[in-house]
Order: sequence, then structure tokens, then C-alpha cells
Amino acid sequence: MTNGLLNNPLRLPNGRNLKNRLAKAALSECLADARNGPSEGLLRVYDRWAQGGAGLVITGNVMVDGRARTEPSNVVVEDERHYAELERWADTGKQNGVTLIAQLNHPGRQAVRTDRRPVAPSEVEMKGLKLFFKKPRALEDREIEEIVDRFVRTAVIFEKVGFDGVQIHAAHGYLISQFLSPRANLRDDRWGGDPERRMRLLLEIVGRVREHVSSRFILAVKLNSADFMRGGFDEEESMNVVRALDRSGIDLLEISGGNYEAPAMMGTARASTVQREAYFLEYAEKVRSLTRIPLMVTGGFRSREAMETALAGAVDLIGLGRPMILEPDLPLRLMIGEAERARKVDVSVGVRLLDGVLQGSWYQEQLYRLASGLEPDPELGRWGMVWAGVRERVMPAGAAA
Ligand SMILES: Cc1cc2nc3c(=O)[nH]c(=O)nc-3n(C[C@H](O)[C@H](O)[C@H](O)COP(=O)(O)O)c2cc1C
Repeated sequence: MTNGLLNNPLRLPNGRNLKNRLAKAALSECLADARNGPSEGLLRVYDRWAQGGAGLVITGNVMVDGRARTEPSNVVVEDERHYAELERWADTGKQNGVTLIAQLNHPGRQAVRTDRRPVAPSEVEMKGLKLFFKKPRALEDREIEEIVDRFVRTAVIFEKVGFDGVQIHAAHGYLISQFLSPRANLRDDRWGGDPERRMRLLLEIVGRVREHVSSRFILAVKLNSADFMRGGFDEEESMNVVRALDRSGIDLLEISGGNYEAPAMMGTARASTVQREAYFLEYAEKVRSLTRIPLMVTGGFRSREAMETALAGAVDLIGLGRPMILEPDLPLRLMIGEAERARKVDVSVGVRLLDGVLQGSWYQEQLYRLASGLEPDPELGRWGMVWAGVRERVMPAGAAA
């Protein structure tokens, strides 16, 4: 039996209402067209999600700089060239009263290898991932300011074309998360040197975006509870960031964790945590006392029971990632009591590093199926997708065909 908690609307600090407590978390679709704008296939997937019942839909990461992408076929929004397609994306994604927000990202050193030499807070290479990522160079002060401007410009464009808001991606080891990390950020200037300065980039971006969009436009942040690496961004630092964000005028805080070096967001945490389903719940319980910003937790939720328990406690909104690819209408079925949980699938080949690649490429392929009007295929081969993932990340564009 459902106790109705999933169906309750949620009022955000800026007065906007989400129609229920289920959110589709950001999933990089890799469905841009040849000009890096949203493709017809991408719109088809958002049509499915708009029919699927989630109250909030967050787009996959959209790049604020076309020279630095997480994957070769990300949507890039750095000026108004895709205006008409972006308007259609907004109209499609907002059907049925869905609240649609775009996730904005800069990959920093986690940029796809085929792009130019990546930029980062400092010249620190990623551990054990040389095959996939080039050594970055440290950003100059002026370039950091330009990146702040880029986030602002992209947010303003998304408001103009009709999106309901943006989410700043400060998690998963991308540029903002690199600045937060004492392992990746070795600077000793106004952007690094102690926790206060390491969080400056995030706070600048949030503050400047807030200044340039209307108060009705939702501003969200996705933050790591920790990077799960020795000497890295830990829970204590993360809680300090939450304290600072509490005063920054954001409307929603999504909690996740990990990065490419330690992919905790995909369920590599301790077995006891995985058993609780939601990997970052304990952290959410701790931050609840620090802030009144609505909290969304993403990572591991599969059963209605676990979602309802979380909503009865510290969490305001349940984020769903992979289940939304295999079952785009899962929220609807959970809310009307037709499904108890997401379908169980084991997407692994049993080798840790390869499994990280596989999670991306296997689910990516399922997104391509949705984009072509096909249904997802839970039986899709695992090893073939490991190869596809390695090939995409390592080979120059065009050579992979
Ligand atoms: C194919 C794929 C692409 C993803 N792309 C993004 C992304 O663009 N931005 C982001 O914040 N998280 C991204 N994630 C992580 C998810 O948002 C989510 O945090 C993670 O899948 C854990 O939630 P889940 O257990 O419900 O899948 C991605 C995950 C997958 C599987």
C-alpha cells in the first residue's frame, strides 16, 4: 500500500511548487545534434519523461563551454544559436505540469580526452585514469572569472527559452567539485588554500546566477557529501559548504557523492550503506539540522518503501537516475501503487574499473534506444558496451566508427 507521501507537492523557497516528490536526476544523454544543440531524439526522450509522472525533471549536464565537454555529444549552450530548439526542449519537457531544470556543468580535468588539454584548479592528474583523461593545466585567475560568466550566460539563456530553472553541478569530480577538493585544488590564491577559498568558485557562480535571473527561476545545486578519497573533500567540508549555501538563496540542494576516481554515486560504498538503498541518506540526516533548503537525495533508491521512509525523515525529494532510463514511467506506477520497486538489473562484468565505464555506456545505449523510439532492453550485452565505452573515451572523434 502507498501512504501517499510520494504524491505530496513540494513548495520551494522561491514559491514554485513541484507536483510531487519524485525527481528524475541528471543523466548525460549524449544526444546533441551535429551543432551541439538538442536533437529530435533528445526531445523524444523528454517526451517520455514528461509522461512518466516525475514532478521534477533535471536535464543531463549541459556544457557551458564547447571546448570542454564531459562527453563528445553533450548539448552545449554558450550563446543564443540554439534558441528555437531550446524552446522546443522546454515545451516538450514541461508537459503535464512537469518542472524542468537544466543542469549546467564544466568538466575541468574530467573532460573527454578528444577535447583540447583540460583545465583545472591545479595541474593534478587523475589517479589511475591516464588512459581516459589528459593531464590538466592550471587555470589563470582571469579564466576562472570567464567561467563564472559562462555559467551566468547559460543560465540566463535557459530562463529566456522557458526552462523553470538551472542546477549547478558541483558534484562528481567536475570543475566546481575539483575546486572544492583539497586533493585537486592546490592553489594558494583567492580560489584555493583553505576551505573558504576552495568554495569561492561555487559561491560566486551561485551568487552571480541569482543576481541575473528572476526570483521565480529555480536555482539548485548538486553537491557531494564527500569524494570518498583519503585527503579529499570530506563530510565536514561538505557540511561547511551547505552552511554557506544556506545563505545564498538557492531553492534546492541535491546530495550525491564520489567522482570518476571513486564512483560512490553508482553504489560502490560500504555494503551496509548499499543495503539501505540510498547511499547518501545518513549525510542528509546530518545536514537537515544545518539548513532549511529542500533536500533531494539521489543514488540507490529503488523501492517505494525506502523512498517513503526517506520522505518521512530528512529528505524532501527523491532523485532517480538509472531507473528512469529503464522505466521512464516508474514514478507514475509507484505513485498509483502499480509498482513496488524498480526493476532489478545487474550491470557489471565484475572488474571495478571496467564496471565504471560499463555503467555509463550500457545506460547510454538504452537512452539511444529511447531516442529512436525503441523500448529499453535489459538483456543488452555487457562486454560489448564495455568496449564501446572505452572506445568512445579514448579514440579521437571519427576514428571510433
Ligand atoms: C548514463 C548516466 C549518465 C549520468 N549523467 C549525469 C549527469 O549528467 N549529471 C549528474 O549530476 N549525474 C549524472 N549521472 C549520475 C546520476 O544523476 C545519479 O546520481 C546516479 O545514477 C545515482 O542514482 P541512481 O542510483 O538512481 O542511478 C549519470 C548516471 C548515469 C548512469
